[in-house]
Parts: sequence; structure tokens; C-alpha cells
Amino acid sequence: MRILLGVGAGIAAYKSAFLLRLFTEAGHEVRVVPTAASLEFVGRATWEALSGHPVSTGVFENVPAVEHVSLGRWADLVVVAPATADLLARAASGRCDDLLTAALLTVRCPVLLAPAMHTEMWQHPATVANVALLRERGVHVLDPEDGRLTGADSGPGRLPEPPSIARAALALVAPQDLAGRRVVISAGGTHESLDPVRFLGNRSTGRQGYAIAAACAARGASVEIVSANVALPAPTGVTVVRVETAEQLRSAMHAAAADADLVVMAAAVADFRPARRSAAKLKKDGGEPEPLRLELNPDVLAELTAARRPGQVVIGFAAETGDAETVLRLGQEKARRKGADLLVVNPVGESTGFGDVGTTVTFLDSRGEIVGAAEGSKDQVAAALADAAAAVLTDRLTEPGRTVARGGLD
Ligand code: CTP
Repeated sequence: MRILLGVGAGIAAYKSAFLLRLFTEAGHEVRVVPTAASLEFVGRATWEALSGHPVSTGVFENVPAVEHVSLGRWADLVVVAPATADLLARAASGRCDDLLTAALLTVRCPVLLAPAMHTEMWQHPATVANVALLRERGVHVLDPEDGRLTGADSGPGRLPEPPSIARAALALVAPQDLAGRRVVISAGGTHESLDPVRFLGNRSTGRQGYAIAAACAARGASVEIVSANVALPAPTGVTVVRVETAEQLRSAMHAAAADADLVVMAAAVADFRPARRSAAKLKKDGGEPEPLRLELNPDVLAELTAARRPGQVVIGFAAETGDAETVLRLGQEKARRKGADLLVVNPVGESTGFGDVGTTVTFLDSRGEIVGAAEGSKDQVAAALADAAAAVLTDRLTEPGRTVARGGLD
């Protein structure tokens, strides 16, 4: 996709360098149009190097290209971050005194503005009226976040983090192929209590499950996350049910899956829990520690797969360690054992798989056959999984009885 990234003159302009990176790493082509004043914050060389394209700020640069028109026609999506109070005012009044505002008058694609400014400026009646007018005209204006601003002050006016802006922007052009679908996704990692202060846990952050939720919501689905110990904000429009243990996750997933079209088990569910939970804090008492006795937790994915309704699609994950060949072999065995419609095989290790890192995953069908793959950030894997889910759901509708996606997953 071709994305025009406008940059206004705010301290948050540096965040747009990360936003640009997110777009290019997801395979999109980006042209940056900063305002002249924004170059005080982030210089032209940064935008040119990161986008791989020359950068202009005014209509009298690169005149033969008539950029305000050519860029407007070129773009499939426009994102302006940060959008300052001045930029919002100029856009609302249809002014075109620099290349960015002129291009905003020529574009015909979806436009997302991500404002950032001091709270007083954001709440000023002039800005409020400008935002209302832009929204009335179909421009998408994000609400800024409430948090630390340029100085020691804080309040509404902070630019949302680049991944949130990227998700909101890409949602504007996402296919609505999950519209009307109910999706339930488990995310995070369960905690199994030993005593009131200690638990057995795992290193899952919930990022992958939350990214899948955001991707499905962007494609029109109504989405619920069953969230085990995750410290992430809920994606826009997504309901979050919080759980702690595998047992709680199991009940919440069964309840939510009853009327879901798509069930995704992205959570790292503890396989074992302490056989006994002490009501009081366990003490050292100077002696040998008691051996820890564990008992098996239910396999929620296997249960959900067994309870699958006709037409319902169940997707699981397989976290495996080892070299690529071993990971695939273990994933294939798990795919056959668990019987989910798709199993996403995910290599994990000390520095692989957890948190904000890129990954390479393989999609297997219930026979262990490879039906697709995805590589990149958790958002990219989530987008590929949403593609795969939509393909499987559509296949089921058009060809009853088929249980696996056969193409378009890569
Ligand atoms: N899972 C589950 N309930 C469990 C354990 C895992 O529902 N008690 C789900 C996970 O959410 C994931 C899939 O099963 O979708 C595979 O999880 P993984 O940890 O890779 O495998 P395990 O089932 O634990 O199998 P193994 O111990 O052989 O790796």
C-alpha cells in the first residue's frame, strides 16, 4: 500500500520515525511530507533515509512533479502524526499554504490525523470546532492520549504510541471480511498460585493475542479477549475479560466460545498447577524446602476443539524450542494431537517469541500439513492469521465440510 505520512511541528515528531518504520517493515511504501517547521524537530535527512524518497515541504520544491496533486493521487492512505493545533486549523479551513495541506485537499483516500498538543490547546473551543468539522467531513481524527506532555505537565494531548496509530490507520483500509463475526481470543499467560503472594507463571506478554484481537476488530469482527495477566491497553472496540489461572481461563473461554465463529487460543496456559495452594505465605522456617507437587491443568484448546460447533473455526498456537526442523516436527505432532483447524507454530526461546520481537511462524492444518507462513512483527503475524481465519471461515461457508484453508495464507 502507498502511505503518505504527514508530520507536523510537534515534539512528538520523533515518534513518526518509528511509525514510518512500522509501515515500511510491513511492506508499505511511504512518502513523507513534513511541514517546514517540523524540520526543527526531526530533520529532512531522517525522513529521506527512512522512506527512501526525497522529501519536500512546499509546493515550489520539485515543481515539475506538481507534488501536491501527484502525491494526493498516489496515496492509498494518509496519516498525519503529530497533527498540531495549527495543522488541524489549516486543514479544517481548507488552506493550502504548504505541500502537506495542499496534498490534503487533493487526496481521495482515507485520512487519519493523530493530534498532539498541550491540553489547553486541545481543549480550546477553536480546536474542538476544527476537529468536529474535520470529522463531519469524513476525516478520521484520533483522540490524543492522556499522559506526560513536553514539560513536567501531563493531561490529554499526548500522541498515541506508533503501533496504536499504525493499527488505527491500517484499519481504515482493512477488508471487512470478518464483519458480523464473533471472535474470542485468549491472550497472556496464566498464573498458578502457590500461596497468596507467589505463583508459577510464564513469560508471555499477551502482545500476540492483543495484536490478533486488533486485526480482527479492524476487519469488522466483534471481538472479546480473555486476558490472563496482561498489562496492555484494550485495543479499540474490543471487550476484555480478565482471568488469572488456567481454570478461570477455561471457564471464560468455554462461555465466550459458545456463540463465537472464531476461537483463537493464543494464551500460554500453564500445563501444571501446584497440587496445593497454601492459604498463608509459605515460610522458609530454616529447614529444607518442601518438594513442589504439581497436578495437570485441563488442555483448553483440546476441549474447545472437541466442543466445536459446525461452522466454528478453532485456531491454536504451538510454542516450541529447537532448530527449525525440530520446531516444525513438534508442531506437526501437536497439530495432529490437538485437531484445531489451524495451528500457528511459533519458535520460542530466551530471546525469541516473547514481547516486542519479530518472529517467523508456520500455519499447519489438523493433519500437520503446512498451509501458510508469516514473518515479521506481531502485528504482521496477526494480519496473516486474520487472513487465514477469514479464508477458513469463507471456505466453510461456501464448501461445507472443509476444515482447512488452502491458499492465500502467505
Ligand atoms: N493450551 C491449552 N491448555 C493448556 C496448554 C496449552 O489450551 N493446558 C493451548 C495453548 O493456548 C496453545 C496450544 O494449546 O494454543 C499449544 O500450547 P503449547 O504450550 O505449545 O503446548 P502444550 O499443549 O503445552 O503441549 P507441550 O507440553 O507438548 O508443548
